[in-house]
Amino acid sequence: MKLLCLILCIGFTAAYRDHTQNKALNTLYRWKQIDFAYPSEQDKQQAIANGRFNQTNVIPLGIERWRNRIFISTPAWKKGVPVTLSTLPTSAGEASPPLTPYPSWEWHNAGNCTGFTSVFRMSVDHCGVMWVLDSGQVEAFETPRQLCPPTLYAIDLDTDTVIGKYPIPQKFVLQNSLITNLVVDSRDAQCRDLHVYIADAWRFGLIVFRNSDAAFWRFSHYTFYPEPLLSNYTLHGLNYQWSDGLFGMSLGKVHLGDRPLYYHAMSSSLEFVVSTSVLRDPSRVDNAVDEFKLLGDSRGPGGQVSAAAIDRNGVMFFNLISQDSIGCWNTYTAFESRNWDIVATNFDTLVFPNDLRIDHEVPQFAWIISNRLPMYQFNLIDPNEYNYRVIYFDPVEAVENTVCQPQLYSF
Ligand SMILES: *[C@@H]1O[C@H](CO)[C@@H](O)[C@H](O)[C@H]1NC(C)=O
Ligand SMILES: *[C@@H]1O[C@H](CO)[C@@H](O)[C@H](O)[C@H]1NC(C)=O
Ligand SMILES: *[C@@H]1O[C@H](CO)[C@@H](O)[C@H](O)[C@H]1NC(C)=O
Repeated sequence: MKLLCLILCIGFTAAYRDHTQNKALNTLYRWKQIDFAYPSEQDKQQAIANGRFNQTNVIPLGIERWRNRIFISTPAWKKGVPVTLSTLPTSAGEASPPLTPYPSWEWHNAGNCTGFTSVFRMSVDHCGVMWVLDSGQVEAFETPRQLCPPTLYAIDLDTDTVIGKYPIPQKFVLQNSLITNLVVDSRDAQCRDLHVYIADAWRFGLIVFRNSDAAFWRFSHYTFYPEPLLSNYTLHGLNYQWSDGLFGMSLGKVHLGDRPLYYHAMSSSLEFVVSTSVLRDPSRVDNAVDEFKLLGDSRGPGGQVSAAAIDRNGVMFFNLISQDSIGCWNTYTAFESRNWDIVATNFDTLVFPNDLRIDHEVPQFAWIISNRLPMYQFNLIDPNEYNYRVIYFDPVEAVENTVCQPQLYSF
């Protein structure tokens, strides 16, 4: 019996490898180290000389796409990050281009709360506004300093102008909060109903922003907490402990006027769900404990997930950060292991797939940044290797011949 399994399992693994040989993945850009498009070489040398720019400390984190551009955040986690939000074209002219500060250099004056401080992630709505989450904190991996309140910005991507600035009220930012991820939810053609859901990974909260009157409120729930054993990570021989709570959030299909928000703590193997009709109702803040539900099976050891997103067909893609892999699940099926699959694994290019977004184009594309974050944290980045990648794939093609393929389940 054991021998049979051994033979079958090896056979299965090999076949599985074949169809997940990353045929679905494309690399748009890759960098050994990140550089910025300074107005002149002299400006750049000056920034290096005065410590404003230390290339070793720049890491790309968040990604978004709108039409012919992508946007990349570079949080100010260590000293020497001169720019925290940038753009690049979707048509790559070179493999490792310098990032262009966005919307302009003027927005990147550290220590000046009239500009950006440290952008973590972005979420673009279908009306062409990019919602930008700025933590307001610098040097989180050294000696953290909160220079400005965590702030949500709205940028009109047609005019490249900042059209809204919403500092998160102090009462919703707890001591040592790490406001780290966001997802926009709008179903109205003009985005008049827009809400933003914001995750606090270190103080385990979900902050809701309502655009119509710029109101904020905050939910707490025990499902936002990490699992103890899942907080112990081993990646490529590096052992580290992260106790990150609520992190990944993805929006399901609208059904009967409501829409599920799937969510998970980063240091966890479990996925949960809550109705956005609950989140959108501030009167439910202290009165919704039973609305936050366990979705199904545990992903098991090594089942930690950073970001997740759902495409138009209702397929969720998620970054398996301890497996150098991208997973999938068709949200029309039960959340059980037999309904999950791996669309890509790569022990070189997918080391710590961090952000994952799906754009608004037809056809849609999924966008990933892989960034070796634990190696960055412990100063183990090798500047002679390619460490940072912008990867994209066609979500329909990616699930072909996997259990996530939608038509197999449409009845
Ligand atoms: C740049 O940062 C690295 C890593 O934090 C540090 O070892 C190095 O001394 C810094 N370089 C300069 C010029 O400050
Ligand atoms: C902050 O930035 C604004 C706009 O770039 C500028 O007008 C102002 O002088 C700056 N303030 C400080 C204290 O640097
Ligand atoms: C954490 O992981 C390391 C490496 O696998 C292991 O040696 C250690 O026992 C783990 N700790 C706990 C509490 O499970």
